[in-house]
Amino acid sequence: MTAPLLDITGLKVHLHVGERIVRAVDGVDLQVAHGTCVGVVGESGSGKSTLARAAARLLPNLPATISGTAQFEGRDLLGMNERALRGLRRRHGFSMIFQDPLGYLNPTQRIGAQIGEALSDEDGAKTPRIAALLDEVGLAGARDIVRRYPHELSGGMRQRVMIAIALASAPKLLFADEPTTALDVTVQLQVLQALYRLHRERQMAIVIITHDLAVVAEICDACHVMQSGRVVESGPTASLFANPQHPYTARLLELSRRRAGVRP
Ligand SMILES: Nc1ncnc2c1ncn2[C@@H]1O[C@H](COP(=O)(O)OP(=O)(O)O)[C@@H](O)[C@H]1O
Ligand SMILES: [Mg+2]
Repeated sequence: MTAPLLDITGLKVHLHVGERIVRAVDGVDLQVAHGTCVGVVGESGSGKSTLARAAARLLPNLPATISGTAQFEGRDLLGMNERALRGLRRRHGFSMIFQDPLGYLNPTQRIGAQIGEALSDEDGAKTPRIAALLDEVGLAGARDIVRRYPHELSGGMRQRVMIAIALASAPKLLFADEPTTALDVTVQLQVLQALYRLHRERQMAIVIITHDLAVVAEICDACHVMQSGRVVESGPTASLFANPQHPYTARLLELSRRRAGVRP
């Protein structure tokens, strides 16, 4: 038996917010096998982002008590030093993309340079590799994009650029935190299709966080439903959707079906 790519057990992230303790993540188990796509769903505030950020070691700078374990290919993520962490981020480890690419991209640096910085120096000339990444994320028709600045791009293009940057390290795992929430519906679909194609072609595992269960139904092998910092239900997507065991899951499904009904 090989270890799962990502193995989270009993993870708790309690944030110290002023005088209060917010139990953002409160005992979560989650495994991601190599090359699979796992969905995390749940209402706003249920702890999805905090879970992913804790696993990716990208929590905001806030006093927090973290316990439990998180391992990447058997290596302790939570205790890992900065150098080892950088290593995992630079080469064949994990990357993360967010809802808001503008908050992530450098406003004063051209797109080409930002993608180039994410590439390691070891694999030869960067220009063709930048072009290849742009192809992969569906920006092949926009070669001049490398000379543009983030604010000169549409939301969908910016999200594709962020994906290209995330792919530069050839990650085995991509955390995608509501990657399409801020986009128009048609663009959402295109970006999700691009992500799914990358998942298949690169055999890259994805943890996708979304409140859109239709997305999970389309692309995820397994799904975890979060409520108040806990996973209340998880399992293979098909069976979980066909036969939800937890009333909260059933409610999310019902809401999502109603939403789907009003979509074009
Ligand atoms: N930086 C922060 N400061 C204060 N509270 C936070 C912060 N980040 C998250 N929280 C709190 O932690 C809980 C989980 O939030 P979050 O992980 O963002 O949920 P989700 O991604 O599911 O919307 C919420 O109660 C939220 O208010
Ligand atoms: Mg969130």
